[in-house]
Amino acid sequence: MPTTTETTAPEETEALAAQLAEHLRPGDVVLVSGELGAGKTTFVRGACRALGVAGAVTSPTFTIARRYDGDVPVSHLDLYRLGDLADEDPALLADELGPDRVAFVEWPEVGTPAGLDPERVVAQVRLEHRGGDRRLVVVRDTRPSAPPAQP
Ligand SMILES: Nc1ncnc2c1ncn2[C@@H]1O[C@H](COP(=O)(O)OP(=O)(O)OP(=O)(O)O)[C@@H](O)[C@H]1O
Ligand SMILES: [Mg+2]
Repeated sequence: MPTTTETTAPEETEALAAQLAEHLRPGDVVLVSGELGAGKTTFVRGACRALGVAGAVTSPTFTIARRYDGDVPVSHLDLYRLGDLADEDPALLADELGPDRVAFVEWPEVGTPAGLDPERVVAQVRLEHRGGDRRLVVVRDTRPSAPPAQP
């Protein structure tokens, strides 16, 4: 079941992200979609803070991916311009999505990077404008459920 929350300030969106981050571990991938300015990077920033990232967390639009050192290594991908960057070495993106890292992917609808195993997508977040500073934040847990206990 997805959880749907309306936030009224960026800090509230960051706090929601921090809650999600509590459950993240290396290898986990979170997809974050929504229109321009909906708050994707704001959400990722909140999650990164909770994961112990201290420095700036800004949109990596012109680099496709940024890396942060938190309590775990974190990657932040923005695929918005991936189409312009057909020459991008797919192996580089695969590196960003290594099993040792937590990864956040903005604009996942643009394409699935090489190395992104769908099984590792543990949450899909969607943000929608609701006027002014209000945003609808829908978090869908897509973590594969644990196998049933053996009798
Ligand atoms: N409730 C809210 N939640 C998130 N951001 C908000 C909220 N209210 C206002 N904002 C503002 O909206 C802007 C969201 O920008 P942000 O860079 O996070 O969006 P984005 O979805 O990553 O955009 P882009 O598609 O350009 O990458 C920020 O300036 C943020 O402060
Ligand atoms: Mg962004």
